[in-house]
Amino acid sequence: MTKQRVLSGVQPTGNLHLGNYLGAIRNWVEGQHQYDNFFCVVDLHAITVPHHPATLASDTYTIAALYLACGIDLAYSTIFVQSHVSAHAELAWLLNCITPLNWLTDMIQFKEKAVKQGENVSVGLLDYPVLMAADILLYDADKVPVGEDQKQHIELTRDIVNRLNHQYGKPDQPVLKSPQPLIRADGARIMSLTDGTKKMSKSDPSDMSRINLLDSPEVIQNKIKKCKTDPVRGLVFGDPDRPECNNLLTLYMLLSGKSKEDVAEECKDMGWGQFKPLLTEAAIAHLKPIQDKYHEIMNEKGYLESVLRDGREKASEIANETLCRVKLALGYSLPT
Ligand code: TYM
Repeated sequence: MTKQRVLSGVQPTGNLHLGNYLGAIRNWVEGQHQYDNFFCVVDLHAITVPHHPATLASDTYTIAALYLACGIDLAYSTIFVQSHVSAHAELAWLLNCITPLNWLTDMIQFKEKAVKQGENVSVGLLDYPVLMAADILLYDADKVPVGEDQKQHIELTRDIVNRLNHQYGKPDQPVLKSPQPLIRADGARIMSLTDGTKKMSKSDPSDMSRINLLDSPEVIQNKIKKCKTDPVRGLVFGDPDRPECNNLLTLYMLLSGKSKEDVAEECKDMGWGQFKPLLTEAAIAHLKPIQDKYHEIMNEKGYLESVLRDGREKASEIANETLCRVKLALGYSLPT
């Protein structure tokens, strides 16, 4: 039986943080043996808000190296850069022309990000979910492992598939395949260290709000020492009045690899002074092998380039086939 296909990606804007890792990449790694996987660094998405041209290329390499350092195995997975496969931009254009405008203005993430951009909000930011749909659909992906915040974009992708298939496919011969989101119960929404009601995010102006995968042990220690807590003694999961407590226990559970029951039992009578060193130790110990591997890979630049070259080749072949299929369905003639 052929394996189901997985596609996912991360934007190369700054550093990856524990939200990206625990919400997405960790799940890619754990599930990769089961699927045929494509993981891209979505650098076209990275320019939908103002970006730094001087660091775009190096950030892209950093993310690709972190995929490998986190455990993505090339025996099961293909790693590539979105802008290296031009079919992404081309399919996005075709999908644009069948996507109603109000589907995009309704997207939560657009509304949140647009507020921050004010008058400078770009068409690209509005169109971002259509490009994401193109990323997924080009590979006929069955599953898309992401954090909770991307769920609405995958629902939109499914709506676009239905619309395109309805307009241009035949009932027994759909043009595109409908993907399913793959969202884990734990870690799908990691919260900020400075406000347990806000998502941990790369765009938070304060670096104290997140733990980055490449933070040094001293920095991790300091961030956890200063993170927001509450005055209650005894730590519990799931109390809606204690969002920081739930988030920090979840981080501890996922980083230490302990079960929820064990963590609940271990921490039920603890105060923060006792808990914080435990979380610090678990975070540092979990990230050390990832950081060591990352530095090893970055010291061997030729290697990463060859990984991305191979990835581009494999991805392009599949993506171009799908693009041709869509163009034919829309009535285009293909170059002979
Ligand atoms: P991005 O780059 O914002 O985030 C990458 C992945 O990390 C997850 N994530 C989180 N998970 C848990 N808690 C958090 N605080 C947290 N913050 C981020 C995101 O859900 C995501 O899975 N549009 C996407 C990138 C993208 C994509 C795609 C993903 C483009 N094309 C195709 C899947 C398939 C994004 O901006 O993710």
